[in-house]
Amino acid sequence: MIALGSDHAGYNLKLAIIEHLKEKGIECEDLGCYGSERVDYPVYGQKVAEAVAAGQYQYGIICCGTGIGISLAANKVPGIRCAVCSDTYSAKYTRLHNDANMLAMGERVVGQGLACEIVDAFLSAEFEGGRHAKRVDLIREIEKKYNK
Ligand code: RB5
Repeated sequence: MIALGSDHAGYNLKLAIIEHLKEKGIECEDLGCYGSERVDYPVYGQKVAEAVAAGQYQYGIICCGTGIGISLAANKVPGIRCAVCSDTYSAKYTRLHNDANMLAMGERVVGQGLACEIVDAFLSAEFEGGRHAKRVDLIREIEKKYNK
């Protein structure tokens, strides 16, 4: 199950991704926003990130104008590794090497077709573990140091 979220500037891209996931038979849920009136991206980055960190969803996919603001908010939630991607290579490798559990994209950066391919690359790659597991653990150590 995948959680989706966006602000107003990522709203249409999110809808295109939801459509794409549904066509592929992948279950997903939209945690907002639900229209194109102006909202604040940290609210939706946090909402999706907290749901993913709590184990309610396997992955989160979030969109804003650039993908950056909403990813910065998501990455403040302990346990979240959210990667902003605008190419399929990064989307694949952030799963293989970083065990990313969230993907962020910018509606003003990537077209809908590319965004759906980025989603597919992200969802079809599995974390390789091994030497990469130690590095992800080092990220967790940083989190622990600042979340007491
Ligand atoms: C909204 O105008 C825009 O700032 C936001 O969607 C995002 O791009 C921020 O990083």
